[in-house]
Amino acid sequence: MRTGIFQANKRRAKIMREPIKQFLERTTPLGSLARWNRERQLKKKYRQWEKAGYAGPMPNWGKQQTVIEYVKRFSPDIFIETGTYKGKIVYAIMPYIKEIYSIELDEKHATNSPALLTSKH
Ligand SMILES: C[S@@+](CC[C@H](N)C(=O)[O-])C[C@H]1O[C@@H](n2cnc3c(N)ncnc32)[C@H](O)[C@@H]1O
Repeated sequence: MRTGIFQANKRRAKIMREPIKQFLERTTPLGSLARWNRERQLKKKYRQWEKAGYAGPMPNWGKQQTVIEYVKRFSPDIFIETGTYKGKIVYAIMPYIKEIYSIELDEKHATNSPALLTSKH
């Protein structure tokens, strides 16, 4: 799996590899259970948002499901995102696509994202 985070205002990119935690979540039964539990919490927040009449911004789970739905429907070889922030979309779609690039304008976020995604320079 290749995952890249690019800093939009500089000509440099970090090639990220999938962290062990995410790899285990994707490939082991115990990891699947942990992922399932986390997704359950996210779904709960999403349902609360629905019940509240869609007030405020859509919770992350809803956004992630929208992107996953498109990835499944069109099966792209490469996914390119602008706006990495903490890399949650990248993390959510890792099981569905092999090559992901995320472009981040803000140096702080571009530097911090590896905390979630792990970098390999
Ligand atoms: C709403 S957050 C993105 C959320 C993220 N995709 C996730 O999965 O949680 C928006 C991010 O876009 C970045 N951003 C804003 N304008 C940008 C641009 N023109 N190019 C790249 N990144 C940009 C911001 O610095 C911020 O980190």
